[in-house]
Amino acid sequence: MTAIPFTDLAAMSQEIWPDIEADYLASLFNADFVGGSPVETFERDWAAYCGTQHGVGVANGTDALELAMAALGIGPGDEVIVPANTFIGTAAAVVRAGAEPRFADVSEETLLLTPATMTAAVTRRTRAVIVVHLYGQVPDMDRLMAAADERGLLVIEDAAQAHGAQWHGRRAGSFGAAGCFSFYPGKNLGAFGDAGAVVTSRPDVADRVRALANHGRVGGSAHYEHMLVGRNSRMDALQAIALSGKLARIESWNARRQEIADRYRDRLRGTGVRLTGAAAGARHVYHLLVARAPGRDQVREQLRERGIQTGVHYPVPCHLQPPLRKFADGPLPVAERAAAEILSLPMFPHLKDKHVDAVCAALASVTDGSHMAATIVGTRAVVPAPAPAAVPAKAASAAGPAKAASAAGPAKAAPVTDAEVRDVA
Ligand SMILES: Cc1ncc(COP(=O)(O)O)c(C=O)c1O
Repeated sequence: MTAIPFTDLAAMSQEIWPDIEADYLASLFNADFVGGSPVETFERDWAAYCGTQHGVGVANGTDALELAMAALGIGPGDEVIVPANTFIGTAAAVVRAGAEPRFADVSEETLLLTPATMTAAVTRRTRAVIVVHLYGQVPDMDRLMAAADERGLLVIEDAAQAHGAQWHGRRAGSFGAAGCFSFYPGKNLGAFGDAGAVVTSRPDVADRVRALANHGRVGGSAHYEHMLVGRNSRMDALQAIALSGKLARIESWNARRQEIADRYRDRLRGTGVRLTGAAAGARHVYHLLVARAPGRDQVREQLRERGIQTGVHYPVPCHLQPPLRKFADGPLPVAERAAAEILSLPMFPHLKDKHVDAVCAALASVTDGSHMAATIVGTRAVVPAPAPAAVPAKAASAAGPAKAASAAGPAKAAPVTDAEVRDVA
């Protein structure tokens, strides 16, 4: 039996290592550990890639959200709308910023926030909405931005799972007052540890995030001159070097994810597994490929017995998580129903076609019969090529993932545990 892992992060490290080795070792042995030119280079390139004026590297994605809210003046007494179907970090950041999350239901088809579910959650105290580009999808940003604008809400984007995703050619993270990214190792653009960033075209927001993340130092102030009570949430130089190496690959890796998603759709056509249609205008970057399977836990167990690792993102909606229940004020049926059915299938750039075929065959056989029919959640890319100008020079010569298939391939995968699978997202 061939074991098929949920992801293979080592293959990505191996692919980029020759490109970054010299810079990485130089930084290590010159003792350039925190901030400095590797971070500045990555911040500039990442902001350009996203289509924003500024990028600020921080320690992780949760801090990016919290610092963005603090920089926008969101805090005690304010409410921030958060979709119920997201990683807890989205809602936790609101609480850490001193505000209160207002949970909203999601679309049956994409499991993302919609203008209607957002609007239903607005109260007199609502200051902002966090639009989460979950799984690598982007919702209809024209309608969401217009609906938020009409109600005077600030928009913050949680693009932790959507590096390079687009709505009508414009990248995730560039629509709201601030776009927040996680570079956790399992993300489409992942560091060698924790890292994150805030991108924005508002200089006041960029300056404030930078100061808050650096112990309240403002602009060129002296090392022990602190104008604000800040904290330490800076990006490490070594993470920035790894991220710059991977940024040169992101387009080819995202393109490979798209190919894999197309292959899943093709191989599952005509089986008991039902697929959703395309949402015109969005470029999905397939951080996760999520199917819906009634009887999900059985399906998952049967796939596991066949050596196929899967994940669940997320088994408990945020408003039902114990520390957040006090903020919930009613059932959110779509998110709650989905949490019992969603199943994330193996998806990573180095996944081989034959393994996609094996997953599809296994899924078709275990869901044979209508009661277990599954639906793949999400949109299909209909916007072909992303804006190329902002990709750093190295990207142009980046080898495609096929060339880089690593020795640590799927066949060597160990049996999955839930802890390992959660690690991806
Ligand atoms: C949607 C979403 N929001 C926020 C976060 C938090 O990011 P981090 O783990 O880097 O703090 C993550 C990552 O796990 C995420 O997937």
